[in-house]
Amino acid sequence: MTHIVHRNLREAPPVAASGRGIWLRDASGHEVIDGSGGAAVACLGHGHPHVVAAMKAQIERLCYAHTALFTAESAERLADMLVGHAPGGLTHAYFVSSGSEGMEAALKIARQWAIESGQPQRTKFIARRQSYHGNTLGALAAGGNAMRRAPYAPILSDAFSHVSPCYAYRDRRDGESDADYVARLAAELEAEFQRLGPGNVIAFCAETIVGATLGCVTAVPGYFRAVREICDRHGALLILDEVMSGMGRSGTLHAWEQEGISPDIQVIAKGLGGGYQPIGGILVHGRVIEALTRGSGTFKHGHTYQAHPVACAAALAVQEVIRDEKLLDNVKAMGALLEQGLHERLGNHAHVGDIRGRGLFWAVELVKDRASKATFDPALAVNERVKKEAFARGLACYPMGGTIDGRHGDHVILAPPYVCTAEEIAMIVERFGAAVEAAVSGA
Ligand SMILES: Cc1ncc(COP(=O)(O)O)c(C=O)c1O
Repeated sequence: MTHIVHRNLREAPPVAASGRGIWLRDASGHEVIDGSGGAAVACLGHGHPHVVAAMKAQIERLCYAHTALFTAESAERLADMLVGHAPGGLTHAYFVSSGSEGMEAALKIARQWAIESGQPQRTKFIARRQSYHGNTLGALAAGGNAMRRAPYAPILSDAFSHVSPCYAYRDRRDGESDADYVARLAAELEAEFQRLGPGNVIAFCAETIVGATLGCVTAVPGYFRAVREICDRHGALLILDEVMSGMGRSGTLHAWEQEGISPDIQVIAKGLGGGYQPIGGILVHGRVIEALTRGSGTFKHGHTYQAHPVACAAALAVQEVIRDEKLLDNVKAMGALLEQGLHERLGNHAHVGDIRGRGLFWAVELVKDRASKATFDPALAVNERVKKEAFARGLACYPMGGTIDGRHGDHVILAPPYVCTAEEIAMIVERFGAAVEAAVSGA
């Protein structure tokens, strides 16, 4: 009998007993490859000695000091490392304890920027359907994940409206070029700015690569340049949520580096601390900070555990490992192997509609029929079946249903640790391929 409110109240999950490298072991001794790093979190795998040592040293020195009185050396060093060289004009960092808290901070600092730059009429945010920005009420309102929003819709803020995602597999029309598809999406976003009154919009929010909700969907070339131009033209901010896709997961430290633009505010979390500690944050453009510095001089926000010394020490160590072990090179090389392996193993499978992603962030969208892209009956929970079949074969992966509209569609994400080897990629592909085959047989 458990006293925890587990995700599934009818079935408690196995107890995770230990982790080493890319492997996780449960209390019964069953070992699985952490093929998705949980939810694209464990970027260094488990038990990395440099991170463990850094955490121990920080814990012995200082566990906590309130940020109203003190700053912490680990937090200062982490911020220096992330934004000391002002990537894309991002000059300041604010650390919290999760992706959702990061998104809340992004929304609030954006609103405060509007007020303190003399534009208090800016009260609206535009985001995208079938996106996810977190489960706290502000972040949930920003997100367009129909399934997660549904029960709470009556208590979500109406400051948020949603436009189409850039989801070429399903939404690009037959014969439509990338440029024409971008132009159509840009026109839709422009129309939404006009509907709200362009001077009333605080920011446009998007995941640079849509993670859990659509399954590793990258934008078509030119999309982010188009939305950046629209935001600039209307004096609105661009908030990019890289909680899942950022901090190296895509092969560059920031996913936006591959889009030819940079955001005004970037949300980061999972790969920041790699799961060694709960930590998220925002990276903020100098002009946003300047508006607040010249104005009230404070960010009217705050959490008891913001910039937690141990969390920051863990994240600093994780980022040092990514830099010192040149792991972005490995993400690119192993990502290419994963892409190739998935195509070879599943590319011709009758129920695999799309294989997509970037870096070490890949998803397979499962369909009932490849030609029509018809989805499976949601009652079959095909994505969950893949998870179970994979787990039984020693592979943890990240399944999700409701790809299209919160109800229909199935995809499964693989996001292995950045430290994985070619042999481990081959094992992941083989186990995953077998799991997909078993899950869809007879479905
Ligand atoms: C893109 C994105 N934003 C925000 C969040 C929320 O992060 P957290 O679960 O740490 O609150 C997630 C979590 O999956 C995410 O994928």
